Amino acid sequence: CGIVGYVGAQSALDVVVAGLKRLEYRGYDSAGVAVLADGGLAAAKKAGKLVNLEKALVSRPLPTGSTGIGHTRWATHGGPTDANAHPHLDNAGRVAVVHNGIIENFAALRAELTERGHLLQSETDTEVVAHLVAECFSSTGDLAEAMRQVCRRLEGAFTLVAVHADEPDVVVGARRNSPLVVGVGEGENFLASDVAAFIEHTRSAIELGQDQVVELRRDSVTVTDFDGAPADVRAYHVDWDASAAEKGGYDYFMLKEIAEQPKAVADTLLGRIDASGTLSLDEVRIPASVLREVDKVVVVACGTAYHAGLIAKLAIEHWTRIPCETELASEFRYRDPILDQRTLVVAISQSGETMDTLMALRHAREQGAKVLAICNTNGSTIPRESDAVLYTHAGPEVAVASTKAFLTQLVACYLVALYLGQVRGTKWGDEIRAVIRELSEAEAAVERVLETMEPVRALARSLAEKNTVLFLGRHVGYPVALEGALKLKELAYMHAEGFAAGELKHGPIALIEQDLPVVVVVPSPRGRSVLHDKIVSNIQEIRARGARTIVIAEEGDEAVVPYADHLVRIPVTPTLLQPLVATVPLQVFACELATARGNEVDQPRNLAKSVTVE
Ligand code: G6P
Repeated sequence: CGIVGYVGAQSALDVVVAGLKRLEYRGYDSAGVAVLADGGLAAAKKAGKLVNLEKALVSRPLPTGSTGIGHTRWATHGGPTDANAHPHLDNAGRVAVVHNGIIENFAALRAELTERGHLLQSETDTEVVAHLVAECFSSTGDLAEAMRQVCRRLEGAFTLVAVHADEPDVVVGARRNSPLVVGVGEGENFLASDVAAFIEHTRSAIELGQDQVVELRRDSVTVTDFDGAPADVRAYHVDWDASAAEKGGYDYFMLKEIAEQPKAVADTLLGRIDASGTLSLDEVRIPASVLREVDKVVVVACGTAYHAGLIAKLAIEHWTRIPCETELASEFRYRDPILDQRTLVVAISQSGETMDTLMALRHAREQGAKVLAICNTNGSTIPRESDAVLYTHAGPEVAVASTKAFLTQLVACYLVALYLGQVRGTKWGDEIRAVIRELSEAEAAVERVLETMEPVRALARSLAEKNTVLFLGRHVGYPVALEGALKLKELAYMHAEGFAAGELKHGPIALIEQDLPVVVVVPSPRGRSVLHDKIVSNIQEIRARGARTIVIAEEGDEAVVPYADHLVRIPVTPTLLQPLVATVPLQVFACELATARGNEVDQPRNLAKSVTVE
């Protein structure tokens, strides 16, 4: 969910609605706002996207006030209806609360409130908080104190922002788990789940820590812990501006983000490998002595980041010979994994807020493992709670389906693998020296792929009526196939599945029927050529059964030509780096198919970019 709060001289409604627009990627099931004006509180909320709320505000305008809050929701408790949309009010309509997360003891609290005569109107856990805050405010007359008292009673994960009509120049926020950032302005202050919401007003930010409450007035920001003791906070400067969070002439953020990939890759490499091929990753603060003792690496992540993790496993094991496993963060801690001081856990997350990944890393640290985060969002929770972080420099990624973040995650994974090898004194052979050299060419290679995408777009449009697309790959091509299928599911809402090509004959081949599109990611014929030859046989097998083959193969690979109904060329790269170029056509393919099918590209149904619940 996305949260915004404002107090200052501008129209709070305008600031809040503009902020919500920038946060809509965090959830778009419903949206709502509340403003304090004329001694009272006025609220509006609507199911569906923000535009529904904007329309409602035109037909029924709210009074102008200078304090307000807003919310854009990804539904957890209660369906996406008007009534369940945030903000939630108390019975007197004096308190408004917006919330991100899940309050686990809400049923008990609700029962207690009902017993005391409160009338709860929605099915949400949030409404309970509005009622509790109203009660505590009536005894304290201080909204921040009321919020602290309430937070001490809540269980689960929550970020809350509240206003009270009796304190018209105050916005109060509370944070446990999901993100909340303060924007510090001149005579005005902001609160939001993400700096994007206030970046057009200020680039000066303060990140709130776990279990902190903030009281925002026009000229002050006061942060305490849940008991009221002053809290330490970290102020920072946001190093990107509003234009980075805008579409810049593209129809969709996704198209812009696909196009930004060469730069994102270059930025993530910048300053990290010197001319002699030596890596300097100063920010990886885990001492070399500890890294030398590591006897197992476990990569945890979700969604697209998990696919980057599958490729990391291959690179880490091949280059460093340290055993590595990659696991879905949501499965990891519930299977009682074997971890100790010699385990290095690598947590990959674009947002740095994914709850499943956060819970996995907490579990790992409790068991004594060291955690290295690979993350794209400065100051987010996952890097804060890790022993060290290697930031990807993709810039803000807004489209829900991840593209440039994925490529930079791959780069970061390669860097981690190489760095592990370096600190452990691994002797670099020709292969690794070539990898280091070729990494610096990756920007140009991705650029070349992007220049040749028109036939891929045309192909995608021609497949708009299909129901199913399969993706096959081996070795690094297998995670690429999974990522291609995920993109298509997310964006085109088609049945899409990725398979390890060798596994095909053990079941999935039964799915092949006349004219079924099958995308095959072909490994380089150089290097491990045996992989290449095997996949060429797999292509023949499916084609013999009627599949329409879409073959992604290296420039100069002639062996695939006779079996490719459609051939997509990618630049020659070392085997382990191939995903950097092979993924790009699949992103373009999915984006174009989604457009051809009339789907919403940046905000696919049911999804959210940052999932802050488990
Ligand atoms: C959500 C998004 C995916 C993303 C995943 C992990 O499910 O829709 O696109 O890959 O979360 O997100 P993270 O921010 O942890 O990389």
